[in-house]
Amino acid sequence: MAITYSEEIQVERAKTTKINSVDFNNLAFGKIFSDHMFVCDFEDGKWQTPKILPYQPITLQPSSKIFHYGQSIFEGMKAYKDENGSVFLFRPIDNCKRLNISAKRLAMPEIPEDYFMNGLKELLKIEKDWIPTSEGSALYIRPFMFATGEGFHASPADSYKLVIAFAPSGPYFSGDVKVLIEEKYSRSANGGVGFAKAGGNYAGQFYPTQLAKEKGYQQVIWTDDNTHEYIEEAGAMNIFVRINDTLLTVPTSDRILDGITRKSILKIAEDEGIKTEVRKIKVSELIEASENGSLKELFGAGTAAVVSPISGFGFKGKNYDLPKLEDTFGARLKKRITDIQTNKAEDPFGWRI
Ligand code: COI
Repeated sequence: MAITYSEEIQVERAKTTKINSVDFNNLAFGKIFSDHMFVCDFEDGKWQTPKILPYQPITLQPSSKIFHYGQSIFEGMKAYKDENGSVFLFRPIDNCKRLNISAKRLAMPEIPEDYFMNGLKELLKIEKDWIPTSEGSALYIRPFMFATGEGFHASPADSYKLVIAFAPSGPYFSGDVKVLIEEKYSRSANGGVGFAKAGGNYAGQFYPTQLAKEKGYQQVIWTDDNTHEYIEEAGAMNIFVRINDTLLTVPTSDRILDGITRKSILKIAEDEGIKTEVRKIKVSELIEASENGSLKELFGAGTAAVVSPISGFGFKGKNYDLPKLEDTFGARLKKRITDIQTNKAEDPFGWRI
């Protein structure tokens, strides 16, 4: 299907602003939302005129296919402001490309890159005062698309809505993160949708994560669905392991999200002269490395949490603590990526726009 689109954006400004009620120095993650949102409908085989509207509820028919068949995808990205008030996005085209990869897998329409970027930049211009600047905070950007088309027939909808909403946010995790290596449940399977940012991929994690929480862990380390012998992801993040002075992560696949933070961390690590390896990692290798002292660090990487150190993991009823190091690769890489994102450091990779 050839998708056509119109580029003008209709703007309706909010009559009042909520901004004065927000404590920008004390932000939780993703709990408050800015005054406006970008909305665009896909109807009659094409993307309709995009709009920027006051942030408001979305009305849907009970028969909209999102409710029945879960055609819903999203992205996570961030905007930053430097001390001169200049605004930056980090690799936004990569997010748009990944949204379209997800759309294709869920039989949803793809969004043209310039259409997505124009809408995002226009919304950002209107909402620039919502970008927090305190340490560890950013404007979290949530583009999402879902099926609005109606019918109980199990087939793709004929209409969709793309929305971009903003949430000024602080850190995703607070405190220690301990993880449980999952032996029964799976996040994804070969030929499935694990590589896509489909809402259902996250819903499927909630129950096993609840069980892990009951045992005192905050997150689950996902293992492969076939053998549960290989580690795959850390909660909603990609996983990194440091063994001695080598930084390892697992290759992307049908089952693993091609994380933008993941690939940026790998590139920065190489640039910093850290030895990296992208290869499969067995749970048994992790246990052995923990027992012989060569396991130095474990961390998750993703847009929301950036780099999230893991202080210990559980497996088959036993706990394995990570050493408490002074200088970690995780902290070093987090600082470098955050400095690039916030324009405190050179960006030799051309990621900041
Ligand atoms: C992100 O890191 O932006 C994600 O998409 C994970 C989400 C569950 C907060």
